[in-house]
Amino acid sequence: MPIRVAIIGLGAAAHNIHLPAYAMIRDKIAVVGGCDINENARNYTKKKWNIEGIYSTPEEMIKKTRPDIISIITPPAQHFEHCRIALKKGCHVFCEKPFMENLEQVDEIVEIGDQAKRHVVVNNEFRYMQIHSRTKELIGSPEFGELRYLYAWQTFTPNAHSEAGWRGNIEKRVCFEFGNHVFDLIRYFFGKTPTKIFAHMPKPVPDMKADLLNIVSVEFSDGRAATFVLDRLSKGPERYLDIRLNGDHATIHTFIGGELRCQIGIHTREKMPFIHFDFVKGGKAELQVGNRSKVIAKDPLNPFKAATSLLFTKYIDALKDKTIPPCNAKDSRDTLALILAAYESASSGLPVMIREQ
Ligand SMILES: NC(=O)c1ccc[n+]([C@@H]2O[C@H](COP(=O)([O-])OP(=O)(O)OC[C@H]3O[C@@H](n4cnc5c(N)ncnc54)[C@H](O)[C@@H]3O)[C@@H](O)[C@H]2O)c1
Repeated sequence: MPIRVAIIGLGAAAHNIHLPAYAMIRDKIAVVGGCDINENARNYTKKKWNIEGIYSTPEEMIKKTRPDIISIITPPAQHFEHCRIALKKGCHVFCEKPFMENLEQVDEIVEIGDQAKRHVVVNNEFRYMQIHSRTKELIGSPEFGELRYLYAWQTFTPNAHSEAGWRGNIEKRVCFEFGNHVFDLIRYFFGKTPTKIFAHMPKPVPDMKADLLNIVSVEFSDGRAATFVLDRLSKGPERYLDIRLNGDHATIHTFIGGELRCQIGIHTREKMPFIHFDFVKGGKAELQVGNRSKVIAKDPLNPFKAATSLLFTKYIDALKDKTIPPCNAKDSRDTLALILAAYESASSGLPVMIREQ
C-alpha cells in the first residue's frame, strides 16, 4: 500500500520541488490531496497534476482524503498553525523550511508530535544533493582529512518575481529564508552545532528594510570555523550557492547551478598553460589539491527536486522501520536557533554564544 500524501500550500515550491519529487517515487507514495486558499492555485494544481482531492481548507482535505503524511508548503508564518492541525488530526508532517518563526513554536510542535506519536521532518534537502552528500562522505577520509574551515557565498539580484508575495513583506528575509540552508549545511558538514556566532547585516541602501546582506562567522568549541556572505546587492552574475571546505589535505569546492565552460589560461606560479572544459547541469563538487582537481559529484538539472525525493524516501523508510527520520524537528531546531542567534548578533553588534549540544 503506498503512503498517502496530501499538501497544504500549492504555490511555487509545491509545483517546482515537491510534486516533481513525489512523482519520482510514485511506486512508494500516492498524492491524494491538496489545499490552498487561492482558487487559481487550486485549479492549476488539479489540472496540471491530475489530483482529484483539491480543497480550500486543510480540515476538509484531511477529512476527505485521510493522508498518512501532510506536506506543509505554505509561507513560514503559517507553518506552526498547519503543523498543529496536521499532528492533531493524526498525520505525520513534512514541513518546508524555515521550520518555524521561533523556538517556542518548535518546542510546542515537538511536544504535540511526541504525544500524538507522529513524526515531523523539515525539508532541509540540501544535505541530500549529490554534491553535498558526497562531500560529507569525504570529510574524515585520508584524502581530505578533517574539515577545518568552510566559507560560502551567494550573489543574487532580487527582482519583482523573487520578492513577490510574502517574501517581499518579511523583515527577517535572507538569513531566515535562504540562510537556513547554509546554517543547516554547516551543521551537517561539521557534524555539530557552532558555539559562537557573529553576524553583521548592514543596510547600505536608503530605506532598505530587509537583511539583503548577511556577513556571518561561526566558531566551534574546538576552534574550527565557518564564514558566509549572502550578497543580494550584487548586480553581476548570479551564484546561487558556492561553498569551499578546507580539509587537512585538500579543498572541496561545491556549487549549485549549471554551466558550460571552456577555460584556457596559465597557472602563474608554475608558468604552466592549462585548458579546461566542463558541462554541469545542476551543480558540481570538485576536490582540489593545488592546481590539480577532480570532479567528485554532479547534480541533475533540478537538484531541489531530486534531493527532496531522496529525503522523503528516507522519511518513509524510517516510518516503516520505526526509526528516527533525518532532518527531524529536534534536529531542525538547532538550525533555527542559529538563524535567530544571527539576527540577535546583528541587532546587538555582539557575538552570541550558543549552548553546546
Ligand atoms: N526547500 C527549498 O529548497 C525551498 C525552495 C523554495 C521555497 N521553500 C519554502 O516553501 C515554502 C513556500 O514557498 P513558495 O515559494 O512555494 O511560496 P508561494 O507563495 O509560491 O506558495 C505558498 C502557497 O501557500 C498558499 N497559502 C498561504 N496561506 C495558506 C493557508 N492558510 N492555507 C492554505 N494555503 C495557503 C498560498 O496561496 C500559496 O499558493 C516557504 O516556506 C519557502 O521558504 C523551500
